[in-house]
Amino acid sequence: MAAEFNQWTAGEEDAKAYSSRCESETFTITGASEGGIGAATAIALAYGKPRTLFFTCRDPSKTAPVIEAIRNVDLNIKTIFVNLDLADQESIREAARTIQESGDVEKIYGLINNVGD
Ligand SMILES: NC(=O)c1ccc[n+]([C@@H]2O[C@H](COP(=O)([O-])OP(=O)(O)OC[C@H]3O[C@@H](n4cnc5c(N)ncnc54)[C@H](OP(=O)(O)O)[C@@H]3O)[C@@H](O)[C@H]2O)c1
Repeated sequence: MAAEFNQWTAGEEDAKAYSSRCESETFTITGASEGGIGAATAIALAYGKPRTLFFTCRDPSKTAPVIEAIRNVDLNIKTIFVNLDLADQESIREAARTIQESGDVEKIYGLINNVGD
C-alpha cells in the first residue's frame, strides 16, 4: 500500500518511506545552519540512509551541531563540510572543486538549494 502523508507528517517519515530513492546516494545541501530549515531537511534526510551529505555553508561552527545530530541518527552517513559563500563566485568554484576532488562522490544525486533571502 502506498504511504499516506498529510500536514502532520514529519520529514523523517517521508525519508523513511522513500528510503529506496535516497539510500546510498550523495546529496549536497546549502546553508544547513543549526535551527534553520536546511538543518531540519538534512536531519530528516538522514533517515533515508544516504551515503554522503555535503554541507556547503559559510560557518562550520553553525553546521557542527547539525552534523552531530545526523551522527545520532545514523553513524554510517559520511558528512563533509565544504566552505561556500554563494555571494562570491570564486568561493562557488572552489567549493565545486573541493567536492569534485574529494574522491567521495561519483555523482550528486540531490542538490538542496536552501540558501536564499
Ligand atoms: N523561515 C521561513 O519561514 C521561510 C519561509 C519561506 C522561505 N524560506 C526560505 O528557506 C530557506 C532557509 O530559511 P531559514 O529560515 O532556515 O534561514 P536561515 O536559518 O537564515 O538559514 C539560511 C542559511 O543560509 C546561509 N547563507 C546565507 N547567505 C549565504 C551565502 N551568501 N553563502 C552561503 N550560505 C549563506 C546561512 O549561513 P550563515 O548561518 O553563515 O549566515 C544559513 O546557513 C531560505 O532560502 C529562505 O528564504 C524560509
